[in-house]
Amino acid sequence: MITLQKNISLQAHNSFGIEANAKLFVEVKSEDDLKEVYTSAQFEHERKMVIGSGSNILFTQDFDGLIVKNQIGGIELINEDADEVLIRAGSGVHWHEFVLHCIDHGWGGIENLSLIPGTVGAAPVQNIGAYGVELKDVLHSVRAWDLGLNEFVELSRDQCEFGYRSSIFKHQRKGQLVISSVVFRLSKKPVLQRSYGAINEALKAMGIASASIRDISNAVISIRSSKLPDPVQLGNAGSFFKNPVVSKERMEAICSLDAHLVSFPFGEAFKLSAGWLIEAAGWKGHREGNVGCYEKQSLVLVNFGRATGKEILAFSHNIQASVWEKYGVELEPEVNLL
Ligand code: EPU
Repeated sequence: MITLQKNISLQAHNSFGIEANAKLFVEVKSEDDLKEVYTSAQFEHERKMVIGSGSNILFTQDFDGLIVKNQIGGIELINEDADEVLIRAGSGVHWHEFVLHCIDHGWGGIENLSLIPGTVGAAPVQNIGAYGVELKDVLHSVRAWDLGLNEFVELSRDQCEFGYRSSIFKHQRKGQLVISSVVFRLSKKPVLQRSYGAINEALKAMGIASASIRDISNAVISIRSSKLPDPVQLGNAGSFFKNPVVSKERMEAICSLDAHLVSFPFGEAFKLSAGWLIEAAGWKGHREGNVGCYEKQSLVLVNFGRATGKEILAFSHNIQASVWEKYGVELEPEVNLL
């Protein structure tokens, strides 16, 4: 059963805390609710958008359609052997609560992804990643409502076509698949991913020599809390831009301007630190009215209280223009712009 609400403020439904209105709004708590929304004649001609916790969205205007707030819950063990478990989680489950649930049960694989804001269902859309782990490393399959077929379908990991912060849900079939649950393959004998130097430093500071998955999670929580603003206190959507991937020639050209450039090999190409580029272009900690570039991590744009989506967008365009002018690199937003 779904209850339709009209002319609803979305301020509490986006982590930037932007004031925007939705013409129509429903919460879905089950696959049946989701099916009802997508098969009801009442909504047939409405533009629809599914949101989880709204932690990767910038509303730049009111939404003249139906916002579908995903609250499909449930965490279920569907298979296990001596080494691994398969766990299904509803797409509306809070990501960090799911991570903690898995750590409590001793299932490893997503501890490096601790404290990432958002829901389970949003995680595959942009193939969330942090501290050397990406969602695709542990994802088994995704169940989704297919708007073309009008039925639920299961996609294997390969069918999701994951890339850096990208997937079939964000590109080839954007708006055509609504995720209802995700199945993860986690390990009962976890191999810890400690390639990220900051994790080892945090563990050392915590006085831990032989780390467990919970220790890794605590290390990640402490790193994230020290660098990234809490959206409850300061509206933001995490990294605003993706780290750009450029040719070796472009990377070398920038290095000849400033040898401190932070870059990582990425296949044949190089991934540059967008945070470094933005900082080097002079934006770190810079504030214009209600909008700012966060003082501890310049990849994060913040709302100091009353910013509009248009103000944040304009600020982001200025950053893009100056990084382009200075380094010839195009920064692509990671956040969904609406
Ligand atoms: N750096 C700077 N200045 C800055 C920020 C970063 O010089 O203002 C340089 C530093 O050298 C730093 C390096 O960039 O050591 C890497 O910074 P960080 O570890 O914060 O990672 P990131 O590349 O800026 C990415 C993800 C984050 C994720 C971290 C950790 C993207 C777009 N962002 O940021 O994800 O938490 O790695 O793995 O890939 C998000 O997607 O919302 C997000 C926060």
